Parts: sequence; structure tokens; C-alpha cells
Amino acid sequence: MIKGFIFDLDGVITDTAELHYEAWKKLSDEMGWHFDRELNEQLRGISRMDSIKVIMDYNKVTLTDDAVVSLATKKNDIYVASLDTMTPDDYLPGARELLTHLRTEGFSVALGSASKNAIKVLEQLNATHYFDVIGDGNSVTQSKPAPDIFLFAAERMKLPANNCIVFEDAEKGIDAAKAGGFYSVGIGPEERVGHADLRFDTMKQATLFEIKSFFGDLF
Ligand code: BG6
Ligand code: MG
Repeated sequence: MIKGFIFDLDGVITDTAELHYEAWKKLSDEMGWHFDRELNEQLRGISRMDSIKVIMDYNKVTLTDDAVVSLATKKNDIYVASLDTMTPDDYLPGARELLTHLRTEGFSVALGSASKNAIKVLEQLNATHYFDVIGDGNSVTQSKPAPDIFLFAAERMKLPANNCIVFEDAEKGIDAAKAGGFYSVGIGPEERVGHADLRFDTMKQATLFEIKSFFGDLF
């Protein structure tokens, strides 16, 4: 039976995937590194330090550990500054409606994000009250595609994995959900999240009615 929902944040609840892209692009331009949307796709769902390693590997750059940390911090400063203008108008269409519906129907709801800025993003959106449990980049050490963040969220909700549906926009996020034994809903194109149990192009289509219709007897 489905009793809980676990949501990724960036690219599911709000369009911060775009702000992460812009911050990495700015850093890369300053460093003279190549960075484009195709490379950015590989960063969806993975941690900040894993992300900078992907960009540096692509550009065949090696730096001292301290230099890497300081550049990742610089990217984060750019990203965090861009969050200041975020408001409760910045949910992805359909996200707030689904969260509200889950609350009124009494489901347990958790956040399962790789971001260390998740609490700030939830505060900017005024979304904190939708979540019983917040799992973020500080909750576990192994990032997606490892299932740890979702297992953390399920454990805190006191639910087994097969009682939960994970919402994800990242290929590695769906991989993580499957590795943990969760049901999954992918948000985005087939080539990215087509391996989810159920997929929608956008959150707007992801209504509780559609989800219940698909998962049927599990509700
Ligand atoms: C994920 C994003 O949610 O969080 C990644 O999809 C990002 O792009 C990761 O790198 C870590 O975020 P932060 O805010 O801790 O740098
Ligand atoms: Mg995401």
C-alpha cells in the first residue's frame, strides 16, 4: 500500500535546476572551462562536489583539493544569491496543488534532495509545512544514484520503501529510487526518466488522480 511520498526538490518542486545551471555556467566561463546544457544534464541530482568533478574531468583540469573546494564554494555563493529573489510564486506549475492534495488526504510526505540549500529553498517558497520529514544534502553521505537519501526519508516516516512513491526529475534519481525498492514517478523526457514506473512531462500533469489511476490497487 502507498502511504508516503518522497519528493526531490530541484526540478520537481521548483525550477532551481535552471539556477544551478546558470551558476555553474558563470563559474565555468570565469575559469575558461567548457560547460553547456548537455554536460549540465549529467549534474542533475548529484552533489555539489561530484558536480565540479564531472565538469573538471570533462575539461581535463586537475587542481588541489583546496582549490576545488574553493571553486565549488564560489559556485554555491552565486547559486545562493540567486535564491534571494525566489518567492511562493516559484513552484513549478502543479507542485503546490499536489502537495496540498497529499496533505488533505493524510499521506506522509518527505523531501529527499541532494542539496545542502534545500531548507533555504523551502523557506523561500513557504513550503516547509508540506513536509513531515526533510532529507537534504546534510542527511546522508552517499549521493544519488545511491538510494541512501530516500531510505533516510522512508525510515524517518517509519515506512518501508514499497509503501512510498519517489518523485524525481533526474536519471540518477530514478536509479536511486529503484535501487532502494521504491516506486517512482519521473518528471521530464523519456530519455531522462523513461525508466521510472510512471512518467509525466511536467508536474502539472502529475495529479493525485492520475497517480492513483496508474498505481491502482496500491492505493
Ligand atoms: C540537486 C541538484 O538537487 O542538488 C544538483 O539536482 C545539485 O544539481 C545538488 O548539484 C546539490 O545542491 P547544493 O545546493 O548542495 O549545491
Ligand atoms: Mg532534481
